[in-house]
Amino acid sequence: MAFKALAALTFAALQVTNAALIRRVTCADGNTVNNAACCSLFAVRDDIQQNLFDGGECGEEVHESLRLTFHDAIGLGSNGGGGADGSIAIFEDIETNFHANNGVDEIIDEQRPFVQRSGMTVGDFIQFAGAIGVSNCPGAPRLPVFLGRPNATAPAPDLTVPEPFDTVDSILARFADAGNFSPAEVVALLASHTIAAADHVDPTIPGTPFDSTPETFDTQFFVETQLRGTLFPGTGGNQGEVESPLQGELRLQSDSELARDERTACEWQSFVNNQQKIQNAFAAAFTKMTVLGHNVNDLIDCSELVPEPPVFTKAATLPAGLTHNDIEQACAATPFPTLATDPGPATSVAPVPPS
Ligand code: HEM
Ligand SMILES: *[C@@H]1O[C@H](CO)[C@@H](O)[C@H](O)[C@H]1NC(C)=O
Repeated sequence: MAFKALAALTFAALQVTNAALIRRVTCADGNTVNNAACCSLFAVRDDIQQNLFDGGECGEEVHESLRLTFHDAIGLGSNGGGGADGSIAIFEDIETNFHANNGVDEIIDEQRPFVQRSGMTVGDFIQFAGAIGVSNCPGAPRLPVFLGRPNATAPAPDLTVPEPFDTVDSILARFADAGNFSPAEVVALLASHTIAAADHVDPTIPGTPFDSTPETFDTQFFVETQLRGTLFPGTGGNQGEVESPLQGELRLQSDSELARDERTACEWQSFVNNQQKIQNAFAAAFTKMTVLGHNVNDLIDCSELVPEPPVFTKAATLPAGLTHNDIEQACAATPFPTLATDPGPATSVAPVPPS
């Protein structure tokens, strides 16, 4: 009897513990979440997927929204700034005049009505839009979502956002100052340039991508930045732009140098044809970046709102017409992975269509 009672009590206690661990909140719309504060995000997610990202594409607005997560978050360091606090949009008149922020006014203005009707703070919205947008890109990792960043009360200072013509020394120093990012984490963050194009580096060729697959979160960016450069008419010669071996592709001087610097070259090469690594390393580095200026323990984790991105399994390749001899080996420790070459004659990379 006594044993039975004790057993029953223990069982009840276990049930309580279990319930506390798995208790889910049911939102008014029927969705279930871990924290009631996440309920309002379902409608915001659907709104931006439909009306900002054109029904769930990995196009121009997603690329720009991801760039904006960085330009807002990196705005802090020894000269001040609040990190991921929305200051770039709240103080748009000031921060978009900083040279490195050229062009971000477009996505700030596109996002503004969505921010207004979301009820979110601006810093939360910018990071949320980036995480949801990236989930549309095949091969991407699921990025985390946190809530609770207060609206910025002051702009970030100038010169927090690195420029493509900055030296590797100054780029690594800036990331270390902003958030203690290691050189390996800087390389991981630059995986973002696999879904990216430039409008303003060379204004004569807007929408020119940094790799041949700007709508896929694959590792081609790490392959193609390692190719020997060839100067094509219309590319090269602008500030921060270096020659690219592929017609229609633009290579940033900073990406070119990070791919070849002894501090970062082996890490850069290690991403080639390693889909698991690009996913894990980018998600980890983004997780640090997205909460810059905040204590993550003060924020609410709403990551469960982020859809599972489409799977991508294609192996990395050398662009058509090229061989292993076109790789400019920079990592001294390990040889460049052996890759197949795309079939057919050399082709030109298409620009990212404007929205
Ligand atoms: C060394 C650091 C970095 C430099 C120098 C740099 C520089 C640039 C430049 C010059 C552009 C082209 C802008 C234009 O002309 O339209 C660009 C685009 C982009 N950057 Fe970076 N970037 C850096 C790091 C990052 C990081 C850490 C992220 C995100 C985690 C990021 C995400 C993007 C994206 C997604 C685009 C494409 C935007 C679009 O296609 O509209 N960048 N970056
Ligand atoms: C933050 O600013 C946005 C945009 O101005 C506004 O819609 C939102 O209500 C503000 N949130 C708070 C908590 O002040």
